[in-house]
Amino acid sequence: MDETTVEGLYLKLKRMIGDYTPDFELRYKAELAAEIIRLKAEKNAVILGHNYMEPALYHTIPDFVGDSLELSRKAARTDKDIIVFCGVKFMAETAKILNPTKTVLLPSEKAGCSLAASITAEDVRALKARFPGVPVVSYVNTYADVKAESDICCTSSNAAKVVKSLSSDTVIFLPDEYLARNVARETGKRIIFPSLLEPGISAQPTETGQAAEDAGYAGTMIGWRGRCEVHEKFTVDDIRRVRQQFPDVVILAHPECSPEVTAAADFSGSTAAMIRYVEQTAAPRYLLLTECAMGENIAAANPDKEMLRLCSVRCPHMNQITLEDTLKALQLNRYVIEVPEEIRVRAVQAVERMIAIG
Ligand code: 13P
Ligand code: SF4
Repeated sequence: MDETTVEGLYLKLKRMIGDYTPDFELRYKAELAAEIIRLKAEKNAVILGHNYMEPALYHTIPDFVGDSLELSRKAARTDKDIIVFCGVKFMAETAKILNPTKTVLLPSEKAGCSLAASITAEDVRALKARFPGVPVVSYVNTYADVKAESDICCTSSNAAKVVKSLSSDTVIFLPDEYLARNVARETGKRIIFPSLLEPGISAQPTETGQAAEDAGYAGTMIGWRGRCEVHEKFTVDDIRRVRQQFPDVVILAHPECSPEVTAAADFSGSTAAMIRYVEQTAAPRYLLLTECAMGENIAAANPDKEMLRLCSVRCPHMNQITLEDTLKALQLNRYVIEVPEEIRVRAVQAVERMIAIG
């Protein structure tokens, strides 16, 4: 069956989510998806879909789905004229940083991120002044001007690898407090969250962060107190109560959850790593401590797996992206993502270094 026609898309959705979605809704979504697929071809566009997209979108219109790292790799390689990013602004910006000559569209202007909003380029400059010569690792969940102040980016799937790749033993790691704590545990570093009001290290910067090491910061990760407004809500008590009710459940936590939560879970990894883990594990039941749509997407693709869901915890930013707005994005060529060239040329180095590490 051709899964680009209304009938083919309807049958696909019926098979995947038909046991809890009324037929008229399936038809409506299939019609929207078919029109998006038609326009995508007409405009020579590619659609990238983050793993958090709702099932009717996730399973129909993207050419590629994945986690932040996988999607930045796809964005780096595309030969299409337009990239429509079904994700949030920092992801679309990363695609633009990698593809300055292409048009990058984000279907909603409101798709931000609490982590990206937690830090400014000015903050990073102040940290660099306080810790001269110490390399800056920025989570990809940051805006372009913050990436431009950074030596290298990372995502949740390669954060520890990126930190280990640096020649300096002291690292500034921004802006997610919990991801930093999880990476510090994995790499055996201590972590501090310094106040910018304290005096800086008065020494000449060196490439290896030697000045900071000499000042007593050897083996230290210097963090920032940004939080993901979704993942910070999961608690060890949630895990205890779920296990009490469902003793055979396998629990997976995103590394943006607190280190207590990731330690109490059975597995912690990026959104793509969590999907792979469920697909490759034979347990009957799973709970993902992350945006709820991921559980729905996995259940739709793997009917033999039972997914428990904590859907009162949602990402308000990812949930801005709908089939309706994606269609409008293609029809009206909106919302165009721009990155000033003087910022982009600095940010691209940090993003490309990350992609090279894999
Ligand atoms: P991933 O890189 O694991 O897809 O995570 C992105 C994100 O925003 C998680 O909240
Ligand atoms: Fe940002 Fe958290 Fe939403 Fe991911 S889930 S986009 S980190 S607010």
